[in-house]
This record gives sequence, structure tokens and C-alpha cells, in this order.
Amino acid sequence: MERNAAPCDVGFIGLGVMGKSLTLNLADNGYRVAAFDLDPAKVVAAEAQDQQESGVVRVEGCRDMTMMLGTLTTPRLVILSVPAGAPVDAVCESLLDAGIGPDDVVVDTGNSLWTDTVKREAHYRGRFHFFSTAVSGGEVGARFGPSLMPSGDPNAWTRLAPLWEAIAAKVDPATGKPIERFEPGNPVKEGEPCAAYIGPAGSGHYVKMVHNGIEYADMQLICEAYHLLRAALGKTPAEIAAIFRQWNEGVLDSYLMAISADVLDTWDEQSGGALVDVILDKAGQKGTGLWTAVSSLELGVPAPTIAQAVYARALSGQKAERVAAARVLQGPQPKVLSETESEALIAQLHDALYCAKICAYAQGFQLMASAAKAQHWTLDFAAIARIWRAGCIIRAVFLQPIADAYQRDPELANLLVDPFFAEQLHRCQANWRRAVAQSTLLGVPCGALSSALAYFDSYRLETLPANLLQGQRDYFGAHGFARIDAPEQQRFHIDWSAKGK
Ligand code: 6PG
Repeated sequence: MERNAAPCDVGFIGLGVMGKSLTLNLADNGYRVAAFDLDPAKVVAAEAQDQQESGVVRVEGCRDMTMMLGTLTTPRLVILSVPAGAPVDAVCESLLDAGIGPDDVVVDTGNSLWTDTVKREAHYRGRFHFFSTAVSGGEVGARFGPSLMPSGDPNAWTRLAPLWEAIAAKVDPATGKPIERFEPGNPVKEGEPCAAYIGPAGSGHYVKMVHNGIEYADMQLICEAYHLLRAALGKTPAEIAAIFRQWNEGVLDSYLMAISADVLDTWDEQSGGALVDVILDKAGQKGTGLWTAVSSLELGVPAPTIAQAVYARALSGQKAERVAAARVLQGPQPKVLSETESEALIAQLHDALYCAKICAYAQGFQLMASAAKAQHWTLDFAAIARIWRAGCIIRAVFLQPIADAYQRDPELANLLVDPFFAEQLHRCQANWRRAVAQSTLLGVPCGALSSALAYFDSYRLETLPANLLQGQRDYFGAHGFARIDAPEQQRFHIDWSAKGK
């Protein structure tokens, strides 16, 4: 195929699943890409796919970083898609050896820990501009339109913005729904791009981390609904897929709901049954949900539904112990529900899922708000909700009312108290309680659904039993307590041994 002698617009390092897809997305949008990977086979594969799809050479494979830098227009723009952690540092050091300069921009698109991004930005300052963009959407998103959360030096963002806005997922402004066209060479150009500058270094990766925490909660909530429908109502995977598809027509319309139905509907030739029934029930995780839960604990911002989703994965991992425990521990006797009871439970479960989902998002947004305060970031929550409406894993119709809520009140203390969401919770909470109660009585675990309910009940109560807790602390540790009839700063301590005297 004939080569183009013109310099390339952008360099791309790391041609794994995500890197190759982003490279081809850039090429579809008119950018010439100089591509490099430590594995030469990946370079060849990216070039071959590009030529096969486009019939021309838009991706120039490079044998090393020096060659890649030499083919780029200056100042150079280099994008990294390498595993988070040490590989990012290794590539940055190699780029310095290869001659990257102070005017050049290097963009990390991996799932990096946000504090690493902060350190890297400072570490490389003066030698090149280290910028980051958290990417959500998996392989298809990267190829045809991801959700992008860029953060760092605003000058670097000015340089990068046209590329990111071109390759990002797009939302139809009239409906707030994704415009999806998964066709090589025919990118979606119309609509609102799901790419918005988030803030200073690290903030984009923090926001993506919380996105993933919400993703964990969302997935777990759907799994709990599946479990109840399966274990208590005896529904088959195909029947549950049909219920999920029906739910996906309304307020629960989301990518995760849609793919859950697809997973449940997939047949396994080998076993002659539903594929889900032969998938080992041990959940994996790469760490972003855990980071979110850890951050919530560190900041003292309750995110119990997200944390519960991480614990649920951990508990699923204790498979051998669970198999042994199943022979020792018993739960309630299975109960056969009547047709009417079953129908009622399905409707209750729908509302439970909706309410719990509102709580998971409320926890995530409140966590971001606290982190922003601690880090002196100014986060635009309406914009964050808007760029999550398409391209990312948690995309859902539900993001539009969240964007509207923060548009109405950028200082909103918690999504739960937004008038729209408060009304939704009031309308659906009775069913939520029934679903959690029924699940509990039937012995089907619903930790995420019930943790969200406890979160809602705790958040809405003016008085919690922490008065007793403060008494306990003062009793054994003389930690002091405040009184409701005195200024809060004033501490009291009593001699508890003299109680009642
Ligand atoms: C995304 C995903 C993506 C990935 C996560 C989750 O937004 O595109 O969140 O980043 O799937 O790493 O992975 P684990 O479930 O393995 O933690």
C-alpha cells in the first residue's frame, strides 16, 4: 500500500485492545497516527486492520520510539495506552531517552491511580507536559466513541480538545441519548461530544475511579435482582433476560441492563444450556472499585453501596469456603410464591433497583464533591453527568436527570435531596422496602440493595443513634461529647462510674 510522506499528527504507544481501537478511531476522524508497541506483532496488526478497513495508510507503524517521535509534527502529541502503574513511568522515561521535549505533550489514557497522575505531572514538569485522560467504554467505546475525562495543564487540553471531541461518543441533544453507529470509517460527527475538561492533574482519573465504583454498584445491583428472580422465583435466564429487556424500556434503561439481558440470553452449545450457568461464580476485579471504596473511607464520605459491591466480589471469590459452608449452614426453607406474589415481587424489584441505583450515584457524586473540596478542584457535576450519557459503561437515560439536577443547583448537597430524585424515592420506596424484606426472608443475599436502603434511611433521619455511640466512647475512653443544648465545640465528659448516683 502506498505510504504518505507527510508527518503524522499524533503518536500512539500501546496497541493492545484499547490502544488499537483508539488509534483506529483517531484515523477514522482524519488524524494520521504514528503507532508503536513493544510487541512488533501488535504494530503489524494495527497497520493491517487500518489498511483493510480504509484501503489507505492512516496508521504508520514504528519500530521504536525514536522513529515515532521523528515522524510527528512538532510540538509533538503522544498518547499512551499501557497498563496502569510502572509501565506508564517506564514509557515516559523511554520517551525522554528518545528525545521528547519540553513543548511536547504526553497523554496517559490508562486506568491510572489518580495520585500517580498528580505525581507524574509534577515529576515531568519542564521536561514535557504530562497530561491524562481517563477513558471509559471498553473496546467498542474506544473504537467508535468513548467517554473521555481529561485533566491537567489547560494548555495541553487546548491542543488535545479537537482530537478528543472528534473521537468521543456523541449524545443527541434533543433526547439526551447516545447516537450510536459502530461502522469503521463512518464516525458519528453530530451531537454533543462526551469529552469535557475535568480540572487539574489527577481530577479526571479520580472522576473515572468513581465512575468505576458506581459501575461496580450498578453491576452488583443487577446481579442481586437476577439472583432473587432466579433463586426465589425460579425464573430461567431467558425469562430474566426478558424482564430486564422490559425494564430497559423505562427509567432503568442503561447499557449495563442491556448487556445483562444479552449475557443471560446466551446459549452454550457445549453444555446445552444457558452460558451463564456454566460461568464460574467468582468475580474478578482490577482495583478501581476498591480504590473508590478506600477513598470514601479516607474522606469519611459514606459510599456503602459501592463498598458493598467490592465486598460482594470478594465474597464470591471465597468459592471453596462457600461450597464447604453450604454443607454446614442453613437458611430459610424455600417458599413457593403464587403467581400474584411473583408478579408483585418483580414490580417491587424494579423499584428497588431504581432507588438503590439513585443511592449509588448519590454516593459517587458526593464522594467526588468531597474530594474536590479536599483537593481544591472545581468540578462541574452537570458536565460530568453529561459526558457519562454515552460511550461509558454506566451510560443510562438516568444520567440526564442527574445532569439536570446539578444544572439546577451546582452546590447540591446530595442527589437524594434534589426535588426530582426525592420525589422518585418517595414514590418507589415502599416497593424497595418490600423487595429487600422479601429477599431477606427468603434468604437471598441483597447486600447492595439493602445497603442503599440503609443509606437512604440514615441520610433522611434527623437523629441517629450516634448519641449513644458518643456516650460509649466517652465511657471507656473519655473522648468527650457535645450536647445539643450547648455550642458544638464545647466538649463534655462525665464520670460514668458515678452514673445514676
Ligand atoms: C470502563 C471500564 C473499564 C474496565 C474496568 C473494570 O469504564 O471502560 O470501567 O475501565 O472494565 O477496569 O474492571 P474490573 O471489573 O476488572 O475492575
